[in-house]
Amino acid sequence: MDTKIDEKKLLKEAKEARKNAYVPFSGFTVGAALLTKEGKIYRGCNIESSVMSPSLCAERVALSKAISEGEKEFLAIAIVGAPSGEDAKEPCYPCGVCRQVLSEHTDLNTFQIITEENGKAVSCPLSDLLPKAFVFDK
Ligand code: THU
Repeated sequence: MDTKIDEKKLLKEAKEARKNAYVPFSGFTVGAALLTKEGKIYRGCNIESSVMSPSLCAERVALSKAISEGEKEFLAIAIVGAPSGEDAKEPCYPCGVCRQVLSEHTDLNTFQIITEENGKAVSCPLSDLLPKAFVFDK
């Protein structure tokens, strides 16, 4: 099945996910919505820990949920982030760790990163954000 990427819908899902963010330390809430090839959407939010290093980004929460349910093919992820209680005005791109982890489960050249700038969807392939990616040849 060829699923179309509905950027607006995916951003809406990311905004819903953002409501569940657990951010007692940074106060910065992030929501992500990951689209599978079959059209299923997995949501994620950031979840912080007082020990800091176990803190999870929204993108990897969404990806972990999907992978653990057996999903293997992904088309796009929408990400929305801003301080708690504020609407996102600036785009929110994935951190370096999330870029690497996403690259290991997607086609770098076609997988789309979608975020929002002043209320408008903006997107690019993951390869734009992670050029010369590390690839471990199994
Ligand atoms: N964060 C994400 O969830 N995704 C990103 O792409 C950037 C950062 C989270 C981690 C931390 O909980 C908070 O945002 C501030 O860095």
